[in-house]
Amino acid sequence: MRIPLIAGNWKMYKNHLEAVELVSELHPLVSGLAGIEIAVCPPFTALADVSRLLGDLRSPVKLGAQDVYPAAEGAFTGEISPGMLKALGVEYVIVGHSERREILKESDSFVAEKVKAVLDAGMKPILCVGETDTEREAGKALSKVEGQLEAALASLSREEMGLTVIAYEPIWAIGTGKTATPEDAQEMNGFIRGWLEGRFGAEVAGSTRILYGGSVKPDNAAELMAMPDVDGALVGGASLQAKDFAAIARSVS
Ligand code: 13P
Repeated sequence: MRIPLIAGNWKMYKNHLEAVELVSELHPLVSGLAGIEIAVCPPFTALADVSRLLGDLRSPVKLGAQDVYPAAEGAFTGEISPGMLKALGVEYVIVGHSERREILKESDSFVAEKVKAVLDAGMKPILCVGETDTEREAGKALSKVEGQLEAALASLSREEMGLTVIAYEPIWAIGTGKTATPEDAQEMNGFIRGWLEGRFGAEVAGSTRILYGGSVKPDNAAELMAMPDVDGALVGGASLQAKDFAAIARSVS
C-alpha cells in the first residue's frame, strides 16, 4: 500500500513572511484530508518559520527542503548541511532537480552523494529524474532516466531505497504548461518501478513512491494520479496558490 505524496516545490519564491502566509492559508484547506501525505518545500530562508508554524498548528503538512550539501559541516561557503535541515524538522529533501542539474551543472555523482547524505541524516530524499524534449524525440527518454537511477540509487541498501521517493519530471513539462499525458507518465513510472524491481526486488519496488512532476494543476491532477504507477505529484507553480495546491491534494485524497 503506497500512501500518495503531494509535495510543493516552491523554488525561489516566497520570503519567510510570505511563506508563513501561504502555509496559514493552506493548513485549514488540507488538514482534514485522509489517505494522503502533503509536504511543502519552501526556500531555506523560510524553513525555520514554516517549521515553527506547522508545529504550532499541529499541522499534518510535512516540511521539505529543496536541496542540501553532502557534508556534515565544513568550509563550504553558502551551503546547508543535512544536519542543519534535520534540526529544523525537515523530513523530505528534493535532490537532483533538473534546474540544479542544468543551471548549476550538478553531476549524477554529486546527486548520488546528496541522496546518501540525506538518508544518513535520517531524512527522506525525493530524487528527481527526467529527460529533455530532444532526448524524448530521439527515443532516449528511458535510457536517460535509467542512467540517472543507476547513478543515484544503485548503491543504496534495500532499507535506504525503501525510504527514498522518486519524482519523474520530464524537463519539457516543467513550468511550460505542457503536461505529460497520463499515458506518458505511466509509461515512465512503470519503467522506473520495473528498474527498482530488478535492483531491489518486488517488495521494495511495490512500496516505493514514484511521483510525477511538470505542470501539474487542479484540472489535470486526478487523471495523472489515477495511473497505477503514479503515486503523487511534485508541484511547482500551482503549489504557490493555497487553493490550487489544496485542490490537487483533494483530487488525490
Ligand atoms: P511546475 O509545476 O511549475 O511545472 O514545476 C514542476 C517542478 O519542477 C516541480 O519540482
